[in-house]
Amino acid sequence: MCGIVGYVGPNDTVDVLLNGLRRLEYRGYDSAGIAVIDASGEVSVRKRAGKLARLEELLEASPVSATGTGIGHTRWATHGGPTDENAHPHLGDGGKLALIHNGIVENFVELRGELEADGITLISDTDTEVVAALVGREVARQGDLETAFRAVVARLRGTFTLLAMHRDEPGKVVSARHHSPLVVGLGEGENFLGSDVAAFVSSTRRAVAVDEDNIAIITPDEVRITDFAGNPVEFTEYEVEWDATASEKGGWSSFMAKEINDQPEAVDNTLRGRITGDHVEIPELTELGDDLLRDIERVVIIACGTASYAGQIAAYAIEQWARIPAEVQLSHEFRYRDPVLTERTLVISVSQSGETMDTLMAVKYASEHGARTVSVCNTQSATIPRESDAVVYTHAGPEVAVASTKAFVAQITALYLVGLHLGHVRGTLSAEASAQAVRQFEALPAKVREAVETHEQIEQLAHWMADTRSVLFLGRHVGYPVALEGALKLKEIAYIHAEGFAAGELKHGPIALIDHGQPVFVLVPSPRTAPIMHSKVVSNIQEIRARGARVIAIVEKGDTAVLPFADDVIRLPLADVFFEPILQVIPLQWFALELSTAKGLDVDQPRNLAKSVTVE
Ligand code: AGP
Repeated sequence: MCGIVGYVGPNDTVDVLLNGLRRLEYRGYDSAGIAVIDASGEVSVRKRAGKLARLEELLEASPVSATGTGIGHTRWATHGGPTDENAHPHLGDGGKLALIHNGIVENFVELRGELEADGITLISDTDTEVVAALVGREVARQGDLETAFRAVVARLRGTFTLLAMHRDEPGKVVSARHHSPLVVGLGEGENFLGSDVAAFVSSTRRAVAVDEDNIAIITPDEVRITDFAGNPVEFTEYEVEWDATASEKGGWSSFMAKEINDQPEAVDNTLRGRITGDHVEIPELTELGDDLLRDIERVVIIACGTASYAGQIAAYAIEQWARIPAEVQLSHEFRYRDPVLTERTLVISVSQSGETMDTLMAVKYASEHGARTVSVCNTQSATIPRESDAVVYTHAGPEVAVASTKAFVAQITALYLVGLHLGHVRGTLSAEASAQAVRQFEALPAKVREAVETHEQIEQLAHWMADTRSVLFLGRHVGYPVALEGALKLKEIAYIHAEGFAAGELKHGPIALIDHGQPVFVLVPSPRTAPIMHSKVVSNIQEIRARGARVIAIVEKGDTAVLPFADDVIRLPLADVFFEPILQVIPLQWFALELSTAKGLDVDQPRNLAKSVTVE
């Protein structure tokens, strides 16, 4: 979704803004723009539909020299198409004020009518220009930016992060947040604003997360935060855990390729500090109190997309280890079903970004209805963890590619740790089972590395299958959500029709899709640890093979039972059944990446998608 950067300080403002926007590109966008106070003291805007390169071309053709105050924006269109006019920044007060916005202003039609009745002409289709015009009109009436900004912000409904600057107050940027993220970057003689820390992490790792319904005002030497009424608010700074290089591509062809390779470390880092001897102990959960955890009667995992598949996998494990009924619900469906929630319901949200609006709203709903909330999140100080009773961070490092990979394996890891912690505290997990899980975890990073090495084989496969128009994925038990994830990856970055099915469901309908040459990936459970499921899946393979499917079997090393029926076999290291998904998903990630590459598509920024979905 939209990216935001604001800057006040002595450095080349255009450079700082472009650098920030470049690092925010991953969020997904379709136009970009900047506004600065130029050498003549006026507000200058450059904006263009399309990628950042188009804005850079414009700046080359029409350079602007700035004096240390600027705002920049990448837009993901909501109101009005991705055109030059609709791109941000938008102007108010006769061009003296510039403003950028993330989110949706829901009462913009009414506000637009008010402005038009006042004789103000608007040139774009956006809700944002309405806000710029309102703040501009208010500055003209009240005389100063801060007062005007506060007055307008209080009138807006919907979701927003807003940044504004005015010609008459150089060296100052004002900002506000309401259901949309905003962070301040603290520098020496310079300060920054961003929709996330990527906007400024190459300049400073000192950050402040602005709270809900607060306003932040930055000048080169000062940061002030107030509530919407103007009352000062105290804030604490934190240090961003990763540095700028962690969000750079390095030598990789794409961020997704880099992030698939990062997975052994992502798992390792998520495990660190959470295993004590032969059992799992998560300090963040210990703080909730063992009594509370012992009283939990039901676990509901809420998430969207890939994160929901991590939740589906973990629900099997949590139920087994902690003997608590565990279910998964899509965040955007959750509150509309009027769920039964009590103080003995543990709602676990899963979100890489920690800003997904659907999940955030579901967490708030759960809290308001008395449930306990734990967030599994990859982004420090994001909104969802701050709205939750406790947070278990995944330490996968920044994930830039829109297609989630390392966050997924880290989410499964973290959720398993939660399940084992609950099992330990509640006494439902035997010492032997606990020790066995710990041994599986300890061996996991090396096995993940081995799974990453399937790349070459998958590259070949994808090369042969470059013209494929439809791919199916089959799995059972924890393999079923892996099948869903394999299909999602292919849809989002290779734009290929793909479906994931529970293998047992095949005969209830989907088998009608099988025709000569139809590629089907089958996730085959271990014959050692899940012999019954294994033999059922082998039967499913025979059924689809008999109808002409091209079977690509993902098996553990040494499993020869499928060989007579598979066209291709991908072999993975041995692991207990719950740990197989973390390995099985990796060849599927590579497959999607390679098909996307073969089709000449943008692997990291697929069409129509945004990295973090901050609108409902
Ligand atoms: C994953 O490849 C997707 N881009 C998407 O499904 C994502 O997992 C989902 O939007 C949830 O995002 P979150 O983890 O940041 O909440």
